[in-house]
Amino acid sequence: MNIIWNKTSKQFHLYNDRISYIFGVAPSGELTNLYFGKRIHDKDDFSYVIFRMGMPNVVVDADTESYSMELNRQEYPSFGTTDFGTQAFEIEAANGARVSSFIYKNHKIFAGKHGINGLPATYAEDSEAMTLEVELEDELLQMTLTLSYTIFDKYPVIARHAAFTNNGSQEAVLKRALSSCLDLPDQDYEWMQFSGAWARERMPIVRKLSKGITSIESKRGASSANQNPFVIIKRPATDEFSGEAIGFSFVYSGNFVAMAEGGSFGRLRMLMGINPDRFAWPLKKGETFETPEVVIAMTDRGLNDLSQTYHRLYNNNLVRGKWKNEPRPILNNNWEATFMNFTEDDILRIAVKAKEAGVELFVLDDGWFGERNDDFAGLGDWIENPKKLPQGIPGLARKINAMGLKFGFWIEPEMVNPNSNLYRRHPDWVLAVPGRKSSLGRHQLVLDFSREEVVDHIYGMLHKIIDGAPISYIKWDMNRSLTEVFSLDASPQEQGTVYHKYVLGVYSLYSRLIEAFPDILFESCSSGGNRFDAGMLYFAPQAWCSDNTDAIDRIRIQYGTSYGYPIVSIGSHVSAVPNQQTGRSVSVSTRANVAYFGTFGYELDLNELSDEEFEEVRKQIEFMKKYRKLIQFGDFYRLRSPFDTDQNAWMVVSEDRSVAIVGIYCMRSNVNTLPGFLKLAGLDADRKYKMEGEEYYGDELMNMGITLTKLYKKGFSISEDYSSIVTVIEAV
Ligand code: GLA
Repeated sequence: MNIIWNKTSKQFHLYNDRISYIFGVAPSGELTNLYFGKRIHDKDDFSYVIFRMGMPNVVVDADTESYSMELNRQEYPSFGTTDFGTQAFEIEAANGARVSSFIYKNHKIFAGKHGINGLPATYAEDSEAMTLEVELEDELLQMTLTLSYTIFDKYPVIARHAAFTNNGSQEAVLKRALSSCLDLPDQDYEWMQFSGAWARERMPIVRKLSKGITSIESKRGASSANQNPFVIIKRPATDEFSGEAIGFSFVYSGNFVAMAEGGSFGRLRMLMGINPDRFAWPLKKGETFETPEVVIAMTDRGLNDLSQTYHRLYNNNLVRGKWKNEPRPILNNNWEATFMNFTEDDILRIAVKAKEAGVELFVLDDGWFGERNDDFAGLGDWIENPKKLPQGIPGLARKINAMGLKFGFWIEPEMVNPNSNLYRRHPDWVLAVPGRKSSLGRHQLVLDFSREEVVDHIYGMLHKIIDGAPISYIKWDMNRSLTEVFSLDASPQEQGTVYHKYVLGVYSLYSRLIEAFPDILFESCSSGGNRFDAGMLYFAPQAWCSDNTDAIDRIRIQYGTSYGYPIVSIGSHVSAVPNQQTGRSVSVSTRANVAYFGTFGYELDLNELSDEEFEEVRKQIEFMKKYRKLIQFGDFYRLRSPFDTDQNAWMVVSEDRSVAIVGIYCMRSNVNTLPGFLKLAGLDADRKYKMEGEEYYGDELMNMGITLTKLYKKGFSISEDYSSIVTVIEAV
């Protein structure tokens, strides 16, 4: 890994063993991209890739020999001079002008990586990464722009963000401040997005890119289940095992935009950042605005390799604290067992059985506080309901601890029900437009987390409860989109800051709670997977993946999630049948076979299982305890797509390639067809492995594949709906 600055050609070359990222100062003084891709040798000068053509274009000026930005690749483009593409940023000067030109001034190269004020970001030791900060200046605006690039030693990854500082005396308004722009020289790519809605999150959608704009966004205040802030572009021939692809992952949890723009001259522009819609950030003298981070990863080895890059990077350089690289406790959550209708005795009865099965952590979900007996009341009143918990959270937590289980509970700190003491006392603390009716979502309103005093108050209430009890885990929920976004605390000119300040408020509450209680394991949740993003992972190392706990639907949801997020971050539980959301009944074995590929736990009352099923659960927990380190942190391979076939298969392989676990699932029976072969991946070609009592060479398993009929008597059959098998492969 290195970052080279060539003084004469004014070019930067960031490289490691796998990638090169090259850009330099353009004839116009702005920055131009020269190359991003597989590692290439360094040279003194790559400026031959800059086009200077006598075409009927607007040129910068006579001295620049027909240099037009439109024909070239920009690093961080503005609109208003000679680039007619979509801009990465826009500044409105005091006189209303919206043209800018940031010229290279100087730069810094240093080992390691800096954090971003108030925002989540990847981090690195000095030996793990190098950072380049390029400072540009617009003299007329009296503003500086700092573009920051980190290259990691071990990963084919560049992390980027930008910062604007106003040094002048006049206020300017940032109308758009995206985090990154990557201009590529051709458009022969397919775009892959991960879209859905509540209960069907992160379904991959692929489409061919061409001239014009392809874009996804969120305007819901959260990153959303509808569009995930992660996109991939890949060559049409790229599959899971070979070919080029580039990933763009936004380390942010609010409104975003991701865009591909194919220009007239073949350029492909990839943009990502905070959604400029409803965004306007006034910058006074001396003030700085820092954008969130985008993590750009590149592979020439297929999509599994791209995903593994994100998995490793996020496990090692994004997730922090005690739970970093730690296998996760097997939990039992009472939500689908009792909903809000429970007594302490009910909870204890579920917990006793959970302990008997081998569960390690008991989680009390919604309904323990205020007048929270249904979803019409109570949010905001973070005080125990004595009718349900006579000795409060501390009393229950101690009883659960005495059984040998850890204890955790559910909160939804950003919300308030109109029917709550908090709202009656502070009706002005919500996001709402004065005089206008507020839209409700699940009968609740959103607290104005852009205001410090609101965040302070919620922190105070939560701190009091957590401080007084042995709490090991918190499920932090967020169950509606933001509407009528207006803050009573902001001036008319500042209303465009509210969405972002809300997210900063959420991050600051997380930071304060983590600082006060560093050992607590946080699981983020937002009606399931409505805020499953890299920003959240910095605070909460795992996320409830979806409220849809049906094993067959979960195969698709977890498969889609695995493209951008580590297996250990995927909250996955075995729930009761018929399934609450789909009405489908699937064996407890298939339910576990899907849930293993995540954090693993149970979302039901184990007392309600038959003796036979309970015995099976006990074995499942033993299995997961033995293999969770491998499943949660091993190299994950998608083998067969549940979107293309009626089957699904995936596997994990240990780092030393001595153990692997394969999961194979039949989502729909195929009567009177041949099952075919399944090719495995990631094994050592020359080693022999034992699988279901027989020995095979690694190359045999990866090239010839396993005959699926072999697994029929063990529980998997393509002519039986919802059958599945999880099998361990060990080197002999
Ligand atoms: C959301 C969550 C569920 C559960 C309920 C509680 O829907 O996604 O897991 O916690 O809230 O109200």
